[in-house]
Amino acid sequence: MTDQTYDLIVIGGGPGGYVAAIRAAQLGMTVACVEKRGALGGTCLNVGCIPSKALLQSSHHFDSAVREFAAHGVKTGKVRLDLETMMKRKDSVVGDLTKGIEFLFKKNKVAYVTGAGEITAAGQVTVTAGKDKQALKGENILIATGSGAAPLPGVEIDEKQIVSSTGALSLAKVPKEMVVIGGGAIGLELGSVWRRLGAKVAVVEFLDAILPGMDGEVVKQMTRTLKKQGMTFRLATKVTGAKASKSGVVLTVEARDGGKEESLKADVVLAAIGRVPYTDGLGLDALGVERDKRGFITVDGDFQTNVAGVFAIGDVIGGAMLAHKAEDEGVAVAEILSGQSGHVNYGAIPGVVYTWPEVAAVGHTEEHLKEAGVEYTAGKFPFTANSRARCNADTDGFVKILADAKTDRVLGVHIVGPAAGDLIQEAVLAMEFGASAEDIARTCHAHPGLSESVKEAALAVAGRAIHM
Ligand code: FAD
Ligand code: NAI
Repeated sequence: MTDQTYDLIVIGGGPGGYVAAIRAAQLGMTVACVEKRGALGGTCLNVGCIPSKALLQSSHHFDSAVREFAAHGVKTGKVRLDLETMMKRKDSVVGDLTKGIEFLFKKNKVAYVTGAGEITAAGQVTVTAGKDKQALKGENILIATGSGAAPLPGVEIDEKQIVSSTGALSLAKVPKEMVVIGGGAIGLELGSVWRRLGAKVAVVEFLDAILPGMDGEVVKQMTRTLKKQGMTFRLATKVTGAKASKSGVVLTVEARDGGKEESLKADVVLAAIGRVPYTDGLGLDALGVERDKRGFITVDGDFQTNVAGVFAIGDVIGGAMLAHKAEDEGVAVAEILSGQSGHVNYGAIPGVVYTWPEVAAVGHTEEHLKEAGVEYTAGKFPFTANSRARCNADTDGFVKILADAKTDRVLGVHIVGPAAGDLIQEAVLAMEFGASAEDIARTCHAHPGLSESVKEAALAVAGRAIHM
């Protein structure tokens, strides 16, 4: 053990952990970050947000070239796919970004310790890398070990034919038929990638609808649009088993509410039914760190566990399992540890699904507001009436703003449409500042721009949209 006692030892170098480490170092703390993957950036940079978005972008180009260029007067020969180059490009985007974090660590004097961290005593983390072990001392320990794919009984992942998101990011060839189990963010994004590249994609979903938790109108619109693109859906359906052989995978399914068992055949099955907290090998039982029934570490308002000096953030504590939520918690905990009053506004965390069109949301859905008995006014504007969307030939979708009926305060914004993931940020800022729909409506928006749809939806809250 070295003599140094760090102010903070972070276990896990994902968006939660690495951001906490940098922020703590900015605030003058001595910080070590332990990561066992061999690269910084966690799930998000290595096998999550970044490689999936790189493939979504590449496959979008391919799809546009095949289906859309001609309408714009752009003639091509037969468009061919070079999957190897597409994958290499994705890998280099990931490689560049993860190395970028190493650079940021050096710049901020965060010690990057490679290996698996275990909390062996209060204030002590033992790091194992192969046969080597080293002990680190820290005033505070932050657990940011993230999550892993939720297992599905009877469906054994081999990452070749039956894959989790990790395998689906690196398939060696385009499957002819792909079945996706789970109509959530991963299923629809990665299903879209392989559908655009030529696979026939069927989504099996346990619930009555895809995109759980999203606003009902958004779900309807996206189901319609994805069907139009060729995806098929089996809703209220239960998967009972999967068997892989040389000739492919046979998936057995039955209606959730009872019915005959049926078989579905596929070259590749992607299981994406949610994620579970990852706490293996951390020594939490010996230390007595409390977790909830689903295994998420429980923390107080300062992100402290029941054990003094041990904190946790990100996917491992549950809530929205999103990189930006983990990052904001990382900043907040570093600020709290340095005596500031860091906090996260959980009411204004955007969620984006990067299909095309994209889906983006912040705040309450209509269903939430009805359930809570809140009186609200809805303003809606379709992209078909937006001039920029017309120029781009991207007219699927709408912006919907929900505002308090008495105060006009924005309570929720839901967008299906081109670049929805960027457009939502205006709404997030509005909600962070407690803006009214009228505040948005009276803000000048550049023409011709997709964001004019946000302004028009805000005008529609008061029944005075100009272009409808
Ligand atoms: P993680 O990113 O999981 O990082 C935890 C790190 O801890 C890992 O690198 C792990 O190796 C390390 N670790 C674990 N145990 C130990 C140990 N004992 N010692 C040392 N190191 C350890 N979110 C978005 O916001 N936008 C997206 O577009 C998006 N796309 C996604 C796409 C996919 C396919 C997936 C799977 C997820 C996606 N997510 C997305 C979710 C996002 O990746 C997670 O919410 C985010 O990574 C959580 O950050 P974290 O820091 O809590 O944990
Ligand atoms: P999810 O929770 O988004 O969706 C899982 C889906 O699987 C749900 O619709 C659920 O009803 C369904 N399901 C559960 N059990 C099932 C079963 N036995 N059979 C059939 N369907 C079943 O989880 P997903 O897609 O795995 O993503 C995991 C996490 O990663 C999410 O929390 C998400 O926030 C995050 N993520 C975020 C992205 C983004 O922000 N763009 C992209 C990808 C993932």
